Amino acid sequence: MKIWHPFTQEKTEALPIKIAEGKGQYLFDDQGNRYIDMVSSWWVNILGHSNEEIADAIHHQAKVLEHVIFAGFTHAPAEELCSRLYNLLPPSLEYFFFSDNGSTAVEVALKMAYQYFKNVGETGRNIYINLEGGYHGDTLGAMSAAGSSSQYHSTFSEFFFRTFSIDFPDDCESEERALEKLREFLKGNGQHVCALIIEPLIQGAAGMRVYSHQFLEQIVREVRRHGIIVIFDEVMTGFYRTGTMFAMDQCSEKPDMICLSKAITGGFLPLALTVTNKRIYDAFFSDDPCKTFTHGHSYTANPISCAAACKTLEILQRPETQLSIRQISETHIEYLPQLSHAINRRSIGTIAAFDVPTPQLAQCIKEKMIRSGIIIRPIGSSIYLIPPYCITRGDLEWVYMELVAFPEF
Ligand SMILES: Cc1ncc(COP(=O)(O)O)c(C=O)c1O
Repeated sequence: MKIWHPFTQEKTEALPIKIAEGKGQYLFDDQGNRYIDMVSSWWVNILGHSNEEIADAIHHQAKVLEHVIFAGFTHAPAEELCSRLYNLLPPSLEYFFFSDNGSTAVEVALKMAYQYFKNVGETGRNIYINLEGGYHGDTLGAMSAAGSSSQYHSTFSEFFFRTFSIDFPDDCESEERALEKLREFLKGNGQHVCALIIEPLIQGAAGMRVYSHQFLEQIVREVRRHGIIVIFDEVMTGFYRTGTMFAMDQCSEKPDMICLSKAITGGFLPLALTVTNKRIYDAFFSDDPCKTFTHGHSYTANPISCAAACKTLEILQRPETQLSIRQISETHIEYLPQLSHAINRRSIGTIAAFDVPTPQLAQCIKEKMIRSGIIIRPIGSSIYLIPPYCITRGDLEWVYMELVAFPEF
């Protein structure tokens, strides 16, 4: 028997560490070693591990209603979750479609956008626009939407549908060049484009690459001129990761659809939502059965996951959680400059990142940090910190001190 791990070259990578317990910002292995989870376990555990209140909410819900088919039925935890989110989203985003993870939230958005145009009788819109290097998940549609410019999925590129990638900008001048290329493309092809899909303000899996809200706003305005649907993939950025509830809160242009997952249940259970507006919903609201959105997963809107998500939202809104989020952002701003030899130091909200000269060095740093009891997971030569919001200032300072201790910094 062998367990095959995700995103892992089983031949060359170290054996997995066996985790026995988690509490707050800490994970403990079966030997009793303690680690600070500086990746929030793939960016999901925003409130730390084994949060008692979320565990109690799950326990309670499991005893009342563990699951029910979501076609033809509804339930209080799903309704409560959507009404809580509705109060936090821009008012135009008011139609909620459930699925299970970030990739499925993206699949739903891509399919909805495509079918929208079919339903309104506009044919030939089958191109998606993305931002070069973006990542939207590992299912075929999500990989396709990211296109061949993604560093992860080129093996499958012969299956990909047609995309246009906007160049990722390094500065104002390259922003202008990228926009000019986009305008050129839209001039000839705008009427064939179905949707723009983009991670707002920061690309996560591309290596925590930050770009300006002005650039995002200009992209949105350009594509809107051609009737193209705008999808913001907030799977990573949602729930205060960038300092605001959603990254789009820092942007004057709002999308037609948003994809949410990861932190939505505080890292306890899989759940995802694709939220859209009246323009899209109305195109499916019909007496014609062909206009139905025929998509659904067995565990759609699982009540236990929804109960965990409701409790997560409640905790997130508390003043003490908001204070922690602000303190993490401030600590990043204060301590990043101390990594004086790190390349391209950057932070946005609770996320900090910097680059080192080679991926090999990043791996050495990762191994040394793990030996010190700090979990990081570099992407190529980019190192990032994305802690749970319950981390203490003392622990975060200690993480920075451990990094500063490297001769390279
Ligand atoms: C922006 C973004 N979209 C989608 C996904 C896919 O989410 P999942 O891994 O839950 O399928 C990820 C995962 O990292 C992501 O960062």
